[in-house]
Amino acid sequence: MKPDLRVRIGGLELANPVGLASGTFGYGSEYEDLVDVDRIGALYTKAVTISPRPGNRPPRIVETPSGMLNSIGLANPGIEAFIAEKLPALRARRCAVFVNVAGSTEEEYLEVVERIESAGGVDGYEINVSCPNVRHGGLAFGTDPAQIERLTRALRDRTRRPLIVKLTPNVTDIGSIAKAAEAGGADAVSCINTLVGMVIDPSKARPVLAMGSGGLSGPAIRPVGVACCYKAARAVRIPVIGLGGIVRAEDALQYLLAGAKAVQVGTGTFVDPRCAISVLEGIAAWMEARGLARIDDIAALLRD
Ligand SMILES: Cc1cc2nc3c(=O)[nH]c(=O)nc-3n(C[C@H](O)[C@H](O)[C@H](O)COP(=O)(O)O)c2cc1C
Repeated sequence: MKPDLRVRIGGLELANPVGLASGTFGYGSEYEDLVDVDRIGALYTKAVTISPRPGNRPPRIVETPSGMLNSIGLANPGIEAFIAEKLPALRARRCAVFVNVAGSTEEEYLEVVERIESAGGVDGYEINVSCPNVRHGGLAFGTDPAQIERLTRALRDRTRRPLIVKLTPNVTDIGSIAKAAEAGGADAVSCINTLVGMVIDPSKARPVLAMGSGGLSGPAIRPVGVACCYKAARAVRIPVIGLGGIVRAEDALQYLLAGAKAVQVGTGTFVDPRCAISVLEGIAAWMEARGLARIDDIAALLRD
């Protein structure tokens, strides 16, 4: 029997648990010729901020063992251009679309969400309180439970659409941060964003990235992501969405066994644009081979 791959985030049903992670799939149309995006459960857009952001100075990407380090810095066209130029195509998508929202102050987050609420046409929001590559906001919000709870509550007042808070692994206790998001009214948490890292070129005796440090992603961070999801899933009742280093179905299954209800593929898309599709097919085949009917049945298998 074919397994039922549907999962629920707040009041929204996703056709399957596999999503495309923010910042690694643009606004969906960039990969149109290579991937049938609508087979994916959810698309998470590149971060959207109030004003346009050119991002940080180059070099802003460097390859690392089993991963990459980036300091893109939330480059995006800003809310106005997003609504005028990106939203129409996103509205036409059959997969769920979550807008990844970033800001330097609480007001900026609120304004982005309010503007999109008035424009309509997206399924929900993923709140990025965890970007290590911006000077203000980002990590400052993501490491303080009180700020997370306040920001989430303020956003909750402004939308009934699903609200996902994206957590950083750069904290001591991710469980308490997840709890703060839940207390503020989040429908789900996603984890993890990138880990702070640095690469130094010895021949020049200087960091390779112009910003100095950046965010580490890819298979190198997968064990950190799985551990964070495991902890978060035991701290909250809302769904946890797992990501970090997923390139094969087996990687996604680690997250689902750890208690995640859904997953996202990020850096894996850079290596193979169809990565998320093969992850999805692999999960379905794994479930079918074991006679599992639902995604929830996977987590029930974990023996820890
Ligand atoms: C180039 C690049 C840009 C990213 N931009 C964003 C972003 O705008 N907002 C966000 O929440 N996460 C962003 N991320 C983080 C990813 O969504 C993801 O959390 C992280 O890369 C870990 O997953 P992965 O190992 O599968 O890539 C970015 C990651 C990369 C590599």
